[in-house]
Amino acid sequence: MPYLDDVEALRKADRWGMLEAYLRWPDALLSGARRAEELEIPGEVRMRGGSIRYGQPSSVVIVGMGGSAAGGDLLVDLTWDRMPVPILVWRDYHLPAFVGPDTLVVAVSYSGNTEETLVAFSEALARRSMVVAITSGGVLGQLCRKLKLPLVEVPGGLKPRMALPYLFAPLPILMEEFGLVRGLREQVQAAAALMEQMATGLAPEVPVEQNQAKKLALDLLGSVPVVYGHGFLRSVARRLKSQFNENSKVPSFFNQLPAMNHDEILGWEGEEEYTRRFSALFLRDPGEGPALRERVRITKALLADKVAKIVELWAMGVSRLERMFSILYVGELASLYLAFARGVDPYSMRSIDAVKRELAELGLAEEARARAERLFPS
Ligand code: F6R
Repeated sequence: MPYLDDVEALRKADRWGMLEAYLRWPDALLSGARRAEELEIPGEVRMRGGSIRYGQPSSVVIVGMGGSAAGGDLLVDLTWDRMPVPILVWRDYHLPAFVGPDTLVVAVSYSGNTEETLVAFSEALARRSMVVAITSGGVLGQLCRKLKLPLVEVPGGLKPRMALPYLFAPLPILMEEFGLVRGLREQVQAAAALMEQMATGLAPEVPVEQNQAKKLALDLLGSVPVVYGHGFLRSVARRLKSQFNENSKVPSFFNQLPAMNHDEILGWEGEEEYTRRFSALFLRDPGEGPALRERVRITKALLADKVAKIVELWAMGVSRLERMFSILYVGELASLYLAFARGVDPYSMRSIDAVKRELAELGLAEEARARAERLFPS
C-alpha cells in the first residue's frame, strides 16, 4: 500500500488538522463572501487634516504579502476583461505614485501584523485613499476599529495560506459593492458548490488510484515543480508554486504562457543533469483557444525529454471562478499530500517567522501604527 493510502498514518502526520481545514474550504469561501456582504461602506471617514470619501474608485490596489496577496491575484484574473479601472496587486512597503483619494486600497493581512502591509496601509490613509481591510485582527484590525474604517473580519487561528477562501471571497463582493463589476457573487457560490462536490474525491480516505490530489503529489515527488498557467490560470499557477514552497517545503517556480515561449523555454535547452531535476505542471482549461492549445502542445514536446515528468491539470466547471478553483483545490491538497509523502511538516513556517522576527527589530510596523494613529481625530 502506498504511504498516501495509509489513512491512519496520514491523520497522524496531519497534526494540525490541515486536511480537515482544506475540506472545509467550500464553507470558508461562502463565509468570506457573507462577511463582506455584511460590511457597511461609510460615505466618509473623518481624520485629522481631511476625510476619506468613499465613492466610485478610479483604480484599485490590493495590498498584501504571501498568502494574503494570493486572493488579489485571483481577483485580477477573474475580472481582468471586465474591470473598468486599472487594478493592481501590490506586494511591497510603499505604494505607487498614482494611489490617491480616488483609489480603492484593500489591505489584506491575515495576521494583521505584516509590516509591509501596515506601512502601505498607513500610506494609503495619509493619501486619503478609500481604504478597506480584510484581516483576522492584529494591528490592522485595531487601527480599523479605532478609525471606524471598513473592515472585513475573518476567523483567526489558521495559517494565512489556509485562509485563502476567507481572504479572497470578500474581494469580488467589494468589487460589486463599489459598482465595478457585476455577477461575481454567483461565481463565488458556484465555485463553493463545485469544491463541495470535489472534496469527497480528494479526501484522505480515497486511494491514490482515484484521488487526483494524491496522484499529483506522487507525480511531483522528488522533483522541483515548475507550474505553467495561461489566461486566468496565471494566478493559480503562482499560488500553487507558493503552496509547494510553503506546504511541501520544496523549491518551485511558475511562469505563464505565452510569455515563457519567449525566454524561459531556452533555459530548458540546458544540460539534462540540471533540467531533469524539474517537473512541469501545465494548468489547462477546456476553453483555451487554438493558439494556446498549440503552444502547450509544442512546449510539452520540447520539454518531453528534458524534465523528470510532465503533468497536466484540467479545469472543470462552467464559470471562470469554478475553473480557477477546480484546479486550485486539487493543487492545494496535492501540496499537502506531497508534504506527507516527503515526511515534512506542512504547517511549519520556520524561515518566514525567522525573517519576520529579525525584521521586527527595525520597528517599521510600530512606526506605521504610530503614523496611522496620528491621523485619528482627537
Ligand atoms: C503563511 C503564509 C504567508 C503569509 C505572509 C503574510 O501561511 O501564507 O505567506 O501570508 O507572510 O502574512 P499575513 O498573511 O499575516 O499578512
